Amino acid sequence: FYTITIAIMTQDKKISVAFVCLGNICRSPMAEAIFKHKVKTLGLSDRFNKIDSFGTGAYHVGDSPDFRSRETCEKHGVPVDHFAQQFKAKHFNEFDYVICMDESNLYNLNERIRSKTSTKNKARLFGEWNTGKKFNQIVDDPYYGGIDGFEYNFQQCSYFSEEFLKSEL
Ligand code: 4NP
Repeated sequence: FYTITIAIMTQDKKISVAFVCLGNICRSPMAEAIFKHKVKTLGLSDRFNKIDSFGTGAYHVGDSPDFRSRETCEKHGVPVDHFAQQFKAKHFNEFDYVICMDESNLYNLNERIRSKTSTKNKARLFGEWNTGKKFNQIVDDPYYGGIDGFEYNFQQCSYFSEEFLKSEL
């Protein structure tokens, strides 16, 4: 009995996290890769069920991440392994945290994709974990800009991931 009670008291439920942007080729696969890498290097893998990423749009479904996202992650020693997929209402029930990049993603997720059958928490901005306001709150769409936008996104996602792991586990 005591063993079972102690097991229940100490064994936290495994967490599932989904990162969402528009195309699922620039920001959210980068966020997923960074977050997974931190979880692994910090020895926290057993605290997670699944970590994945999606786009609100379907334009790039099946595509590999943008080469600039891959290059930026590789430069920092973060492995990327993903093919783009679209976020659907059912995914709200499959993830404890649905974390998006900008206000447009947030609106699309909570006001358009989310349905009556979406029982779990609403989507939240990754910038909610911008503790100390070190970076911009919004992870801006880098698609039409230069490589520096991707580097800034990388720094933001790294910091937000660390702050998430500190506050949510
Ligand atoms: P992401 O970036 O949302 O960070 O993946 C974009 C990728 C593609 C497009 C827009 C944003 N697009 O319009 O094709």
